[in-house]
Amino acid sequence: MANLKVGVLISGRGSNMQALIRACADEDFPAEIVTVVSNNPEAAGLGIAGDAGLPTAVVDHRDFPDRESFEAALDDVLRAAQADFVCLAGFMRILTGWFVRRWYDRLINIHPSLLPAFKGLHTHERALEAGVRFTGCTVHFVRPEMDSGPIIVQAAVPVAADDTPDSLAARVLAVEHRCFPLALRLIAEGRARVAGDVVTIVDPPSTGEPLLNPREA
Ligand code: GRF
Repeated sequence: MANLKVGVLISGRGSNMQALIRACADEDFPAEIVTVVSNNPEAAGLGIAGDAGLPTAVVDHRDFPDRESFEAALDDVLRAAQADFVCLAGFMRILTGWFVRRWYDRLINIHPSLLPAFKGLHTHERALEAGVRFTGCTVHFVRPEMDSGPIIVQAAVPVAADDTPDSLAARVLAVEHRCFPLALRLIAEGRARVAGDVVTIVDPPSTGEPLLNPREA
């Protein structure tokens, strides 16, 4: 089966994009990155993508009078690169219903919390303030409402008593880098099927033990 052709949208550091690049470097991985597009010309991830030999583009939102024209330009770049799927990897612009519908069920995002908890920004600060025992990350199909949509993969990360937002962010980021390639693989293999609000995984590997935090003595 031909590889899924993926466009990756970034705004900054690009570590999740880099995790996808690494995954795609494996010849058995069923997807390939055809373009990396940033709305931010200063995004460090552009350099990482360029060093990996990938085509990059900048579509700077500040060059456009409104969201619609910005998104039309993004869409043009993705189509010119012949992308048939889009990964939002730290892309910091809210997308309109127009873009989401245009890429419906072909557009996924990674978010640093266990959705539907802690949508939006500053997730780790808010998780610590709320005193949750677990947080984590979510890869989901994008729907017009921010940080919502059918969940493909989640990973739970226990919160430690002495965690700071930065220490928690670092542990969540490490699992983000595993979850995003996994979600993309499941989709590219046709094993993540959306029906309504729910994704069904075909042939899921058996899950492990429940995670308890704190652990039983
Ligand atoms: C990640 O935490 C991701 O979940 C969120 O933005 C951050 C991007 O980091 N959407 P990076 O640019 O992938 O390093």
